[in-house]
Amino acid sequence: MTGAILPGNSTTELHQFEIPKPGPGEVLVKMKASTICGSDIRAIYHEHKGKGPEGYQPGMVAGHEPCGQIVKVGSGMRRFKEGDRVVVYHISGCGMCDDCRRGYMISCSSEKYRKAYGWQRNGGMAEYCLADEKDLCTLPDELSYVDGAQVACGFGTVYEGLEKIGISGNDAVLITGLGPVGLAAAMLCKALGANNIIGTDVSEERMKIATDKGLCDHVFKAGPDNVQQVLEVTGGKGVERAVDCSGSNHARLAAIQATRKWGKIVFIGEGGTCEFEPSRDIIHDQKTIYGSWVTNIWRMEELIERIVRWGIHPEDLVTHRFSLDQVDDAYSLMASGKCGKVAVCFDEELERKSSGENLHADGQCCSSC
Ligand SMILES: NC(=O)c1ccc[n+]([C@@H]2O[C@H](COP(=O)([O-])OP(=O)(O)OC[C@H]3O[C@@H](n4cnc5c(N)ncnc54)[C@H](O)[C@@H]3O)[C@@H](O)[C@H]2O)c1
Ligand SMILES: [Zn+2]
Ligand SMILES: [Zn+2]
Repeated sequence: MTGAILPGNSTTELHQFEIPKPGPGEVLVKMKASTICGSDIRAIYHEHKGKGPEGYQPGMVAGHEPCGQIVKVGSGMRRFKEGDRVVVYHISGCGMCDDCRRGYMISCSSEKYRKAYGWQRNGGMAEYCLADEKDLCTLPDELSYVDGAQVACGFGTVYEGLEKIGISGNDAVLITGLGPVGLAAAMLCKALGANNIIGTDVSEERMKIATDKGLCDHVFKAGPDNVQQVLEVTGGKGVERAVDCSGSNHARLAAIQATRKWGKIVFIGEGGTCEFEPSRDIIHDQKTIYGSWVTNIWRMEELIERIVRWGIHPEDLVTHRFSLDQVDDAYSLMASGKCGKVAVCFDEELERKSSGENLHADGQCCSSC
């Protein structure tokens, strides 16, 4: 089979791999959609700079947002069978440590057994992916494979962060960074009832996507006036909740300072630093800052159920679909930031683009399509 690897010099390479044979407790998934996360660009694509759980093992098939259909199963299956449509929770843990027992395989503490798909074991940018049955979530018929792929990291991550700070119709929410993760935050905040959603980004393309898709009520270009601008659209008080999806020092400070007294802030964007004055910025205003890393597997299944109930489609954030042989274009576009979510698609998911099913409600492609 063909699979894509990331050599770490802002290119991709297609290599030939044996089609894996599932052993006990394993399944072979025919890939249907594999989306690109900002972390792939930040920690692998330009340069292999991730360490520990973010360390990419050279030669691994990339892609940690895999979604597809089981075509072969090993022995001893407990729940899944051939033909099932599945999302792969993208970290395989030991199953025995405290984090795994809480469902947070992301922070599995076993150096020997913790392996993330697309980082330390082969991921979704290939025709097939060998997965452990225990890492699978069911993809319901109401959702497409492109919907499902985004749950495997992006939407799952955002949902976890939003659950930590709690979002409801009571809240005005600031989202700093409108990449795919920030756009997902806006989509989920809206589904959870928030109705004054404010976004910031440095990229005009991303600001436009947030506006055109109706995901944010106000969008501001990132800059030193952001706190003042947020105060102006929140009656001078600031937002109840803020979500940083940028990883930028400036944006994180704006998120903290634009949050009102007793408010909650969650940091999802990775890397960089954050400088603030504890007394002025959080202590005297009784604010709480949370950090949030991916999610646990039960919450991922819960999110999938709720996405169906809410009638939303993560695939609406996908502005570009590519086939596996165009994977180089897919990564370079995502690295440019001039796009929404970028998906590598297979089979029927690739054909859907040409059949027009990916058109938006008004029958038009978005500005970036
Ligand atoms: N915590 C987790 O578990 C988790 C999981 C997935 C991704 N991430 C991280 O989330 C972040 C977002 O992911 P993504 O896929 O959307 O990546 P991305 O890089 O496409 O998005 C980041 C966005 O932030 C914007 N930005 C940069 N500086 C800014 C500023 N000063 N103010 C406002 N916006 C600014 C960029 O223009 C970009 O649109 C990345 O750091 C990624 O590594 C974290
Ligand atoms: Zn990710
Ligand atoms: Zn573990």
